[in-house]
Amino acid sequence: MQTKTRSPKQPPPARSVDLPGALPMLRSLNEVARSLCYIEGPEPPFEAVVRVAQSLFNSDGIAILVREPSGEHVFRTAQGVLSEWRDYTLSGACSDLLKALSDRDQVALFKRNQRNPWAREFLFAAGMHWGALAPIRVRDQNVGALLLNNANAVHVRAEHVEVLEHLATLAGVAIVEGRVRYGLEDLFMSVIVSLTMALEAKDPYTEGHSVRVAAYSEAIGKQLGLPPVLLDMIHRSCLLHDIGKIAVDEHILTKKERLSAIEREKMDMHVLIGESILRPIALLHPLLPGVRHHHEHYDGTGHPDGLKGEEIPIEARIIAVADAFDAMTSSRPYREPLPEEQALSELRRAAGTQFDPRVVAAFEQIYPAVKRTLEHMRI
Ligand SMILES: [Fe+2]
Repeated sequence: MQTKTRSPKQPPPARSVDLPGALPMLRSLNEVARSLCYIEGPEPPFEAVVRVAQSLFNSDGIAILVREPSGEHVFRTAQGVLSEWRDYTLSGACSDLLKALSDRDQVALFKRNQRNPWAREFLFAAGMHWGALAPIRVRDQNVGALLLNNANAVHVRAEHVEVLEHLATLAGVAIVEGRVRYGLEDLFMSVIVSLTMALEAKDPYTEGHSVRVAAYSEAIGKQLGLPPVLLDMIHRSCLLHDIGKIAVDEHILTKKERLSAIEREKMDMHVLIGESILRPIALLHPLLPGVRHHHEHYDGTGHPDGLKGEEIPIEARIIAVADAFDAMTSSRPYREPLPEEQALSELRRAAGTQFDPRVVAAFEQIYPAVKRTLEHMRI
């Protein structure tokens, strides 16, 4: 559990803030509700709640605390003067106070002249004059709290309190939707990853291929400075990148001789088949570009779309390098594995034609460490 100490700041002189009337409030609530109706919305679910709360209440600090299954409250989002609290777990005394406030199931308003521990921690310490805490409840369960504060005094009427309650309810919908979505994604992923593993396990030449490609690719993405959410997406795309091979004849997959033109065409189809297998599952749509485009070439000579340079999604450019390296250093029915130095020099040779040179350079940086990890895991 994390705790923080703060030195109280001198608050600025209080001015009063006029809040909007009922109609703009209602419109804004509808906007949040609509944003939660999309499976693949334009922004993460909490963002609409935070954006609207900020604009309606002219807040200097906004946070959404989520009660995790462990019972702890974690700042899942925090902005403005509260931004440094993001991802922190609420400490003991504050957590007990929050539970007590949440059990009352009503919006609590704090002013600077009140002397209660919550106001001291989150209001005065941040130099604020006004604060509001709306418990987030879903089906009689406490799932979190919406916290707002303001450097100025805010004159709140009954309709504003009601709007805060609605915003908290919408945040609750976002929390529950997120959990359901995560559970579903997890379920779909495990079914499909099991299918991939089953496919790879049938062929001793490809066993463990997707897991190794995922390990290389995630490390390349990290080396390139990609954000964690993209790294996670890249990891999952790699586990599924060759799922379309499930529909390619086994004799083509395991053929010792060179593939004929027709067989090559059938083999190349695996990227489109993979995409069509995953497309019906909306939750997996972010993974489609990596699956479809991992055989594009940087100079535009690849397939299926002949995309060029940065037209190729970054995850596909990364998978292409990791996939090629693993294929070169693994046994194939038609050849022995290449020594790693030779495979690395092949990557260098094709940097700028088949592969993105930045990705190849990043691969060379991460390879020794990932190789050690994979050896340790015996993959
Ligand atoms: Fe592939």
